[in-house]
Amino acid sequence: MTPLTPGSTSSIHDQFEELAAFNSDPDGGGITREVFTPEYMEAVDYVSGLMRAAGLDVRLDEFANLFGRLEGTDPDAPHVLTGSHIDTTLNAGRYDGVLGVLGAIAAVRELAAGGVRPRRSIEVVAFAGEEPRFVAGCLGSRALTGSLARADLDGLHDRDGVSLASALLDAGLDPDRVGSARLDPRTIHCFVELHIEQGGVLERRGVPIGVVTHIAAPHDLLVTLRGEASHAGATPMTLRRDALSGAAEAALELERLALASPGGTAVATIGVLRARPGAINVIPGEVELEVDIRDREIGTRTALVDGFTQALEAIAARRGLELEITTITRDEPAACSEIVVDAARRACEELGVKHIEMVSGAYHDAMVMGVDVPMGMVFVPSVGGISHSPLEFTAPEDLDRGVAVLAGTLAGLTR
Ligand code: HGY
Ligand code: MN
Ligand code: MN
Repeated sequence: MTPLTPGSTSSIHDQFEELAAFNSDPDGGGITREVFTPEYMEAVDYVSGLMRAAGLDVRLDEFANLFGRLEGTDPDAPHVLTGSHIDTTLNAGRYDGVLGVLGAIAAVRELAAGGVRPRRSIEVVAFAGEEPRFVAGCLGSRALTGSLARADLDGLHDRDGVSLASALLDAGLDPDRVGSARLDPRTIHCFVELHIEQGGVLERRGVPIGVVTHIAAPHDLLVTLRGEASHAGATPMTLRRDALSGAAEAALELERLALASPGGTAVATIGVLRARPGAINVIPGEVELEVDIRDREIGTRTALVDGFTQALEAIAARRGLELEITTITRDEPAACSEIVVDAARRACEELGVKHIEMVSGAYHDAMVMGVDVPMGMVFVPSVGGISHSPLEFTAPEDLDRGVAVLAGTLAGLTR
């Protein structure tokens, strides 16, 4: 598909429409634009054009993280990084991540139009691979912070068995050079990300802006249960080692444990189940589960993971199944930095915009960046609290308000 020529004067609302056209599954109802696919790389070209049209110096790093820089009056001072991601999960919406990239470009234009010459340079970033096509999320920010090892590029695979390394090669990148994407954290003053809330707190409270104080973090597992594939008709029920029945029992136990977790902030999801061989007349001999367990509190998350592990061991023992558990990601819940929270709070106050301080249930590149640099986030409401769905929607006036608060936050952080 020939990339659209970006409307240099197009509004952010036109740009959401234009970016939505880069879709690998246009008939699916939503938007699927997974990292390193042809549609994704064309979308990167499109956003590069928007950055250039906004007067930013554009560069693509070795992991295809896209940067647009507005030089400050003190170019040697650590810069302010702001942005998010333009890759999507499957059959998703048009605002998750995209708002943080288009909104950052629009905020920088707003500052320039208002005659603001920041002392600190501002870099807008579109991180590659925030969504977990390769099961682990936030790959681009992990490459930036040096927490993505060369071995991970070969070890991580997508649902079709494509390794991250071969996807990089297909996108014209060199897996052996990804290490050079690492940035010196001393060159970054802070990171701020504008994002849709993806939950329903702001909508329920009737408040237009959320200033994020903490980000819940995932401890994701790949669980494999192995029993015995056998004839669905000729094998008596009492002689079976049915891996899928074991997985079903584990799924219900995980839900029970998450609901019972003290504090009520833990969540657990099994988003992917692969049963093999996958024929109607064969008892599943092997089942793989991709398990996503999150919490803002590390103690209750650890207790939930431990409880689930014990439950899996008991189920496997009772059913005569083999069990394998590997950790996919284990991130620390992140606290946002007071300098970014304060700048966002002040921006809201100067704009006369009501805001609340809140926790993010979704993870973001800000969670990874927060390991190395001060970070914070600004949320706008998601209608019905829906996200990762074609029904994801944020009202245009809320999008515009988010951009205005981001511009004010950047003005405060770049002084
Ligand atoms: O799953 C998440 O929290 C993020 O939207 N990728
Ligand atoms: Mn997402
Ligand atoms: Mn996101």
